Amino acid sequence: MSGEIKIVGHLHDDDVSVVFATLDDVLFIAHLGHSLGDNEIDPSLFSRGIVGGGLDNQTVAGIIPLPSQGWMGLPGLEVSRWGERLQLNLQFVSVEELTDSLKFLLYDYREGIYVAITARLHISGVLVFSTRVSNGDTEAISVHSVHTCLPVGGHANEILTLGGRHAMEAVQQRTSWGRTKQLLENRSGRTSHEQLGVVFVGSPGFTEETGDVWGVHLAWSGNFRIMCDGISETLKTIHIGELLHPDEVVIEGQESFEAPDVVVSFSSQGLTKASQRFHKYMRSFRTSSPKPVVLNTWEAVYFNHDVETLKELATVAARVGIERFVLDDGWFHGRRNDTAGLGDWWVDESVWPNGLEPLISHVTSLGMDFGLWFEPEMVNPESELYRTQPEWVLDGFLDNPVLGRHQLVLDMSQEEVREYLFEKMNALLRTYDIAYVKWDHNRPLVEGATHHQTRGFYELLSNLKFAHPGVQFESCASGGGRIDMGVAQWAERFWASDSIDALDRLEIQKGLTTFIPPEMLGSHIGSPTCHTTGRKHALSFRAATALFGWLGVEWNLLSLTEREEQQLSDVIDFYKQHRSLIHRGDFFRVDHPDATLDIRGAMSTTQSEGIFSISRVRSGPSNHSAPLRLPVDSKTEYTVSLVHLGSPRWALHRELPHWVQQNEFTMSGAVLANVGLPMPSLLPESTFLLQVEQVVHP
Ligand code: GLA
Repeated sequence: MSGEIKIVGHLHDDDVSVVFATLDDVLFIAHLGHSLGDNEIDPSLFSRGIVGGGLDNQTVAGIIPLPSQGWMGLPGLEVSRWGERLQLNLQFVSVEELTDSLKFLLYDYREGIYVAITARLHISGVLVFSTRVSNGDTEAISVHSVHTCLPVGGHANEILTLGGRHAMEAVQQRTSWGRTKQLLENRSGRTSHEQLGVVFVGSPGFTEETGDVWGVHLAWSGNFRIMCDGISETLKTIHIGELLHPDEVVIEGQESFEAPDVVVSFSSQGLTKASQRFHKYMRSFRTSSPKPVVLNTWEAVYFNHDVETLKELATVAARVGIERFVLDDGWFHGRRNDTAGLGDWWVDESVWPNGLEPLISHVTSLGMDFGLWFEPEMVNPESELYRTQPEWVLDGFLDNPVLGRHQLVLDMSQEEVREYLFEKMNALLRTYDIAYVKWDHNRPLVEGATHHQTRGFYELLSNLKFAHPGVQFESCASGGGRIDMGVAQWAERFWASDSIDALDRLEIQKGLTTFIPPEMLGSHIGSPTCHTTGRKHALSFRAATALFGWLGVEWNLLSLTEREEQQLSDVIDFYKQHRSLIHRGDFFRVDHPDATLDIRGAMSTTQSEGIFSISRVRSGPSNHSAPLRLPVDSKTEYTVSLVHLGSPRWALHRELPHWVQQNEFTMSGAVLANVGLPMPSLLPESTFLLQVEQVVHP
């Protein structure tokens, strides 16, 4: 061992650098964070010396760290052959420079195992790590884990995670990160409600606008493991990969296994900037198109499908400006409630004697397009599919299989199962004029075989997308149980939560926008009394919350008063006018010292216009909150206007701040960004909007 460190690659833009180096034959990330620009990098900078009480050699955390390299944490690759765990020793072989990426090859000479790692610096500023493990031997190997090891700054002493439960997803949780290992695991077989596959770590007290922040995500819709290892203060590492069950993945001789991509976003200017890079990355998945306003029938009628009522609903929907009518659960064979029918994907003749055509042609004649709900991976024991093909079910052989919402899971690794589902869904997509599929997944998978299940799901979804490129897909799993960048390759929208309580949605969507762009988050205006929480909110508050997403309505429009109908159509108009700004601009969550205020919004990428919502989540402790600063260009001048999506809800004021009375005024960007507007006293659970537009001097 020479103990010599060599730099073997450096990807960077103005904000981020990742430096790859080798110590002897071990490939490791020497630096991941602040940009080092084009400067020559001195490799000796990364030599940490040798200490007493340890190994005689200097050690590093390899990008695939292994005990044979002196690594004492989570191994980066664990495999066995013939039931025997292999002692791997992956050695650096080569690096190939491609346009925006570096491709590394590692090899274990004794076992004939290759690992190819591609690190790409995407134009958005995120880094994407793709790992392929190949078995160069003739004997199969079983893969137990593949984890990428990413070092972050030693000063990253806070961890931010997102998780919660059904109907309250993506709640942010902060923990301090000292000399500990912190493990986030998902074993629910879908991305899960409890723990999203993303972690942010950062410098002490990092905020939306300040601090060094590393965001790390696994683009995968199944089980995962993220371990934040801080055992050594000089080296803090994040280990991330799919969580595999024993013998779930076997690589036959001369074959390969692709691990899910790891996506990393670094920012030296707080969480919002890290989020914006994730957003830009996801926006690159497809060309942007205006997101049509959705009417979803679920909370309007649930399972009570009646063609005439649904037609009437469509008529009112078109009148208020809805552009897409989505028929939710309840339309297919035997589905009169949630105990039966899943698997029988043909239209229920008892409810729809003439098929879906009468409704769809009514919807399209009103100028809207049509969407349909499916839950393809599931089956009810009470269904024709289960009666005829019980062997298609995961763990169907058990005497007491675990049910969830009265349903079992189809084994998506079986080709026949995928073929059946493709054939049924394809037939419907061909027969009817369907623009949109809401794809649900309402039961966690406890059966274990989640790798092949997830791959099978991806295959079916991608085949359908390929056969019907114009159809858009929404990923839903009892609300926000399947939100990740893996499924986002095909799905354009996520159903964020089964709760459309505007107050809870503020929190849920805030969490989700840390890595998902707002326009991908299905965000609906619900009934005045929320069905999941029983809480009542004014339409203006429900609307303002829903506006910063992909807008929809999930409310029985047949119950609306004339005034409500007018107000709703005004809101929809407003959304249509501003959706391209909200959906294509840079999304901000704005820091404010008053924790009872929630400020978020979008600025166009040129900073020429913006729109922000200022909401009060609960009563504040002071009469005058700190001024409202907005992330505008401080070198220009703006016209600022106040927008209400209903009557203003100010707390008792003898006199409102001058600018509020003015409604529209001009202000320098420097003052708006640095001094701010005096904050009026807003009532709890209410919002006002501010629009800013650059003044163009002739
Ligand atoms: C899940 C979804 C809901 C709705 C129901 C239908 O709970 O999250 O939006 O589609 O299923 O059964």
